[in-house]
Amino acid sequence: MTSTLQEGILVGCGNPLLDISAVVPLNFLQKYSMNEDDAILAEDRHMPIYGELVEDYQAEFLAGGSVQNSLRIAQWILRQPRVAVFFGCVGEDRYAGILKEKAQAAGLDVHYQVKKDVPTGTCAVLITGTHRSLCANLAAANNFTIDHLEEPSNKALVDNAQYYYISGFFLTVNPPSIMQVAATAHAKQRPFLMNLSAPFISQFYMAPLLAALPYVDIIFGNEAEAQAFAEAQQWPSGDLREIGKRLVAMEKKNPARPRIAILTQGCDPVLLIQQDSVQEFPVTKLAVHEIVDTNGAGDAFVGGFLSQFVQGKSLDVCIRCGNYAAGHIIKNPGCTYSGEPEFVE
Ligand code: AP5
Ligand code: NA
Repeated sequence: MTSTLQEGILVGCGNPLLDISAVVPLNFLQKYSMNEDDAILAEDRHMPIYGELVEDYQAEFLAGGSVQNSLRIAQWILRQPRVAVFFGCVGEDRYAGILKEKAQAAGLDVHYQVKKDVPTGTCAVLITGTHRSLCANLAAANNFTIDHLEEPSNKALVDNAQYYYISGFFLTVNPPSIMQVAATAHAKQRPFLMNLSAPFISQFYMAPLLAALPYVDIIFGNEAEAQAFAEAQQWPSGDLREIGKRLVAMEKKNPARPRIAILTQGCDPVLLIQQDSVQEFPVTKLAVHEIVDTNGAGDAFVGGFLSQFVQGKSLDVCIRCGNYAAGHIIKNPGCTYSGEPEFVE
């Protein structure tokens, strides 16, 4: 990093979750009617998973939650603390302590809403080979309310930021907060970035997603998420480029700044879609023996992207840093990093 950035230039909202991660046999997934690459919300029938992972599968505890992951990675690359501010809701327990400690160690400025009588959220990460299946028990994270953003000190943080990032996952929790942040970004003509996050968001939360979308300047997603969005819109599915073009052409509040879509496709090139143009950014494919787990790759991609975007770098640099960060995280368990960042523009 060359110059010093404004503190709190980037604000994010999301679900702070502690990941409980373990390698499991396929029949463990079958027992809970889960697939190898799911990302779902826990129902009552999933609740025994968390205890079983700890008791029978030597589970690891890792800081998670999609937006918090991305912001931690951005902080790691920036090497300047407190550039990013994070809002989300936790309980008053040991897990909240672990999350806060990891976030602060990364340099993130966390402002959790604390719900005393509800446990901090967790996400089961079920690893089978190179696949990972996620089952989030939002718990306290589901209790985030807009009054937290209206507290004067938090409102000042939102008002002072220049960039805003919220996951699609947060649509299941508190759309009014998303709309308020989006409206602030719009009024101040500052970029508002969102993520499609998981197919189930397009399948079951399309109404709040469509309400937020007109405010979205940059939308991130992976292949499966883009296909799910297309299907829910009854667009012809299949061609990711076509889906991206339709996505950027949807209604936008500020037409002077056309929407951009950035779609990742694993080890295949990242697509940058702007109006009628589609650019490809190659990914350096990792050898199988280098891959620890891909959990957090998409979040790390966004983190790398944001670290450059808040410095006003070109989209080309932002995407290359996204690929760098994702590649690094894949070589580490969960969404964790090791050593110093080595991204060169
Ligand atoms: P998870 O969905 O696993 O993380 P992710 O960041 O989305 O990672 P994926 O592996 O799914 O990547 P992707 O498919 O998005 O991206 P792609 O493969 O295109 O989720 C992790 C976190 O989500 C957990 O911490 C959990 O807490 C949280 N979470 C779950 N439910 C939640 C909820 N309800 N609310 C909040 N949080 C929740 O890859 C992206 C990039 O990676 C590529 O562009 C490339 O650069 C790189 N890459 C991928 N594969 C390769 C490869 N083979 N070689 C080299 N580079 C690669
Ligand atoms: Na990883």
